Amino acid sequence: MMTLLSDSADSKSGDRETAGEVIRIRGGRPLTGRVEVKGAKNLVTKAMVAALLGETPSVLRDVPDISDVQVVRSLLEVHGVSVIDGDEEGTLHLDPSGAVTAHFEEIDAHAGASRIPILFCGPLLHLLGEALIPDLGGCRIGDRPINFHMDALRAFGAVVDKSYEGIRITAPNGLHGANIALPYPSVGATEQVLLTAVRAKGTTELRNAAIEPEIMDLIAVLQKMGAIISYEPNRVILIEGVDRLEGYDHRAIFDRNEAASWACAALATDGDVFVGGAKQQEMLTFLNVFRKAGGWFDIHEDGIQFRRAGALKPVVVETDVHPGFMTDWQQPLIVALTQAQGESIVHETVYENRLGFTEALVQMGADIVVHPHGLETEGRRVPRRALEQAAVINGPTPLHGADVEVPDLRGGYSYVIAALAAEGESTVRNVGIIRRGYEKLFTKLDALGADFDVVG
Ligand code: EPU
Repeated sequence: MMTLLSDSADSKSGDRETAGEVIRIRGGRPLTGRVEVKGAKNLVTKAMVAALLGETPSVLRDVPDISDVQVVRSLLEVHGVSVIDGDEEGTLHLDPSGAVTAHFEEIDAHAGASRIPILFCGPLLHLLGEALIPDLGGCRIGDRPINFHMDALRAFGAVVDKSYEGIRITAPNGLHGANIALPYPSVGATEQVLLTAVRAKGTTELRNAAIEPEIMDLIAVLQKMGAIISYEPNRVILIEGVDRLEGYDHRAIFDRNEAASWACAALATDGDVFVGGAKQQEMLTFLNVFRKAGGWFDIHEDGIQFRRAGALKPVVVETDVHPGFMTDWQQPLIVALTQAQGESIVHETVYENRLGFTEALVQMGADIVVHPHGLETEGRRVPRRALEQAAVINGPTPLHGADVEVPDLRGGYSYVIAALAAEGESTVRNVGIIRRGYEKLFTKLDALGADFDVVG
């Protein structure tokens, strides 16, 4: 169903997936068929960094072909780590034995491309005694400060110098175990502490830690390497530092964000999608909301099938850290909620600016009002942070085609499914951003019967 209109779009690389930036979608057709999800972006990139801590090479399996992985791969390579594709598709062999301090210019070439460089700090400090961090990228969904990371590194004994080039971190007296309480259960800051504490001298106690399944999988990776990590109730993680770590051989946990995205695509387009590799346990919260919104799912050993049970129903959801409803799930869900009968409310409490993408949905005919300072609704728990926004979605509203530009990864994916659900033709620009986290997007859309062209 997909055609390539422009030669220039992919003739150089010979790969339509890596070239297209603009797609034209003719909507109004249900997505039907099967797609496979690989390892989670939000584990794989961290496990690649963890390989720096091993004295022997590591093997990581089920690595998706996404641009965030490419960025981390290049960063490892500029630090002298050899990264080689294995024979099995999606397998990386990572050998850190030649690790060296990289030049600021080489690191800076990755500035703005990803959030992951910040997680190099602990491993580089243990390995080389210093770490240079460029300006950080990632999606533009809020301020995304790094104060928790820097405070944690200082607690381990690191010295942080900010210069006009970026941040230089050293550990003149080595790193020692620390007692750290995070102001918020930040995913990245928890990973920072784990990757630093495993080789620090002594024991680290981390309170108010994030406990996302991807973090548990990172703990599993580190334990394979020789780390001693235990977790206790109430978000407490204890890490006993060890003198040396080995490489690991690990198959990454599946990408529950991508799985939820395809589930919402089935809901929004009134399709029927089997997501191979999706598992129930890590998606319990999502599945509850999916069911309440009028979705039907069937759990199989090798994946989950998703479609509508009947008419879509409005829901009230609040994003939260695990085990809550993930902030990365709300964008594709909102597209489906535009087709539900009645008023839905989505409270975003993790990031301060993650509902801006709804403007384009309004342009496509949706009735969505964003309350930038949140909204009181009955039965709300006290939010973890003062920071929040709310979107009120009234449906069902027919969606029509529009010309839209992708703002960020999850918002961008939601534009694609909105265009697929809409009557008429849409142009979606800047789709390259979606490649940060969705492998083989065009191939998968094609497999599900989407009608689209790559036009630039
Ligand atoms: N925060 C601070 N200070 C810090 C760190 C975080 O104030 O030093 C705040 C953030 O500004 C945000 C909140 O804490 O408001 C949560 O941030 P967190 O650190 O948990 O997020 P992250 O590690 O930067 C990861 C994922 C995100 C995902 C969030 C929440 C990666 C590479 N990114 O980000 O994924 O939304 O956790 O689960 O793992 C995505 O995949 O599209 C994506 C944005």
